[in-house]
Amino acid sequence: MRIQKWLAAALASVALLATGCGSSSAPSQDSKQVATDVPASFTQNCAACHGAGMEGRSAPNLTKVGGRLSEEQIKNKIANGGGGMPGFKSRLGDEEVNKLSAYLASKK
Ligand code: HEC
Repeated sequence: MRIQKWLAAALASVALLATGCGSSSAPSQDSKQVATDVPASFTQNCAACHGAGMEGRSAPNLTKVGGRLSEEQIKNKIANGGGGMPGFKSRLGDEEVNKLSAYLASKK
């Protein structure tokens, strides 16, 4: 009985703490965001490094990449790679590179 009361009080204060600092945990939500509309070509070619939901693994999170880079910059990165990423121009072809760039550029 006594322990249960103590537990309830402890849980209540944890809940209060959690809501109390809600704003300070906001920045980390960005890296936890997972995309649910990932194209098949992304799953096949990019997920190994960028994560199945683009949440990032060995390579950066891409769920907000459209806010950081222009479609042109994204296209260039996918086509030519760089900084540890392989280029995909010959593997995917222009059309698929364009599709993936447009998709990623819309992620803001
Ligand atoms: C072998 C691992 C690997 C694969 C596979 C890979 N990437 Fe990357 N990617 C990286 C790394 C590492 C970086 C970071 C490069 C840098 O910092 O310059 C990166 C960066 C990027 C960036 C720029 C992100 C930013 O914020 O600057 C984009 C866009 C991107 N990748 C898209 C893709 C797409 C689309 C595919 C699939 C066609 C793909 N990547 C496949 C490793 C990979």
